[in-house]
Amino acid sequence: MQERIFNTNETKEDSFENSIRPTNIDEYVGQTEIKENLNIFIKAAKMRDEALDHVLLYGPPGLGKTTLSYIIANELGSNIKTTSGPAIEKSGDLAAILSSLEPGDVLFIDEIHRIPRFIEEILYSAMEDFTLEIIVGTESSSRNIKIDLPPFTLVGATTRAGDLTGPLRDRFGIISKLNYYTEEELTQIVKRTSTVLNCPIDEPAAQELARRSRGTPRIANRLFKRVRDYALVLGNGTIDIDITKMALDKLKVDSLGLDQTDYNLLRSIIDKFNGGPVGIEALAASIGEEQTTIEDVYEPYLLQKGLLKRTSRGRIVTKKAYDHLGIEINNLH
Ligand SMILES: Nc1ncnc2c1ncn2[C@@H]1O[C@H](COP(=O)(O)OP(=O)(O)OP(=O)(O)O)[C@@H](O)[C@H]1O
Ligand SMILES: [Mg+2]
Repeated sequence: MQERIFNTNETKEDSFENSIRPTNIDEYVGQTEIKENLNIFIKAAKMRDEALDHVLLYGPPGLGKTTLSYIIANELGSNIKTTSGPAIEKSGDLAAILSSLEPGDVLFIDEIHRIPRFIEEILYSAMEDFTLEIIVGTESSSRNIKIDLPPFTLVGATTRAGDLTGPLRDRFGIISKLNYYTEEELTQIVKRTSTVLNCPIDEPAAQELARRSRGTPRIANRLFKRVRDYALVLGNGTIDIDITKMALDKLKVDSLGLDQTDYNLLRSIIDKFNGGPVGIEALAASIGEEQTTIEDVYEPYLLQKGLLKRTSRGRIVTKKAYDHLGIEINNLH
């Protein structure tokens, strides 16, 4: 079976990712507005000798939320402690992490939307007043204890900001949405990766990779790695445009960066639902993907590229998608 290039779960490639992760804000390509704002807020917090306001970063997978969280800690000159929503199963898990914080620490919670609701409430007072409220004792003799916490900065990351409760969202002073990267930005990222890995790539090849990376640095880097193998075995080590095109075609990444699942999704709407509109449940069932995977990973890019449209009655495939797939439109929406 063909390996999924757009698999965005944690994988053994993590160590590869970590090796090419930028560590300071100047190396972090793109997201200019977010960077400019953060730079000011970080400087101001340092001048006031206060903890930076809590930061929520959201956007599709692979756009640099985790990377940016580490950079924030680095730029603050703070230590970072990390955990994730699914790892917090009991109130005690969160209480333990919070009570281990030192003044000015950054607490990074990945997939913050997955913290169970009853535990999430502990975060409210921790974020607002830097106090930890816990209940000790048995039911008959239970009492509430308040523990002071040092000032800290919570950095939360999520692919689904919509799944956050209002009270939690409201406690973030800085909320930033990461956007897909432009081809120029991705070209820059590809070239940076080429330098870090000491594996040369020429300009046209870097641009081609960028164009076919779905606006996503993680995908650009993964494709780079594959193309590098083709260049090593079949070429002279330098990644050029011919090797790049051949490798990407073999990997079934098309000219817009669409993969097999994108094709299945679009074709399924066209073939089985007459181009749409179709509801997300029916669509998920018809292509055998999780609804959340479609919503978080596939759909945002297809919407952004204008291949898919979301209407009140469901998803519809656009004329641009028919043209891209080389299919004639034989229905009227
Ligand atoms: N702005 C950037 N400049 C350079 N490289 C980047 C940038 N953003 C991300 N990357 C690269 O892309 C990879 C993936 O980024 P990261 O892990 O931060 O994404 P994420 O948004 O946290 O994804 P997920 O939602 O899956 O957790 C990193 O290894 C990093 O090398
Ligand atoms: Mg991440």
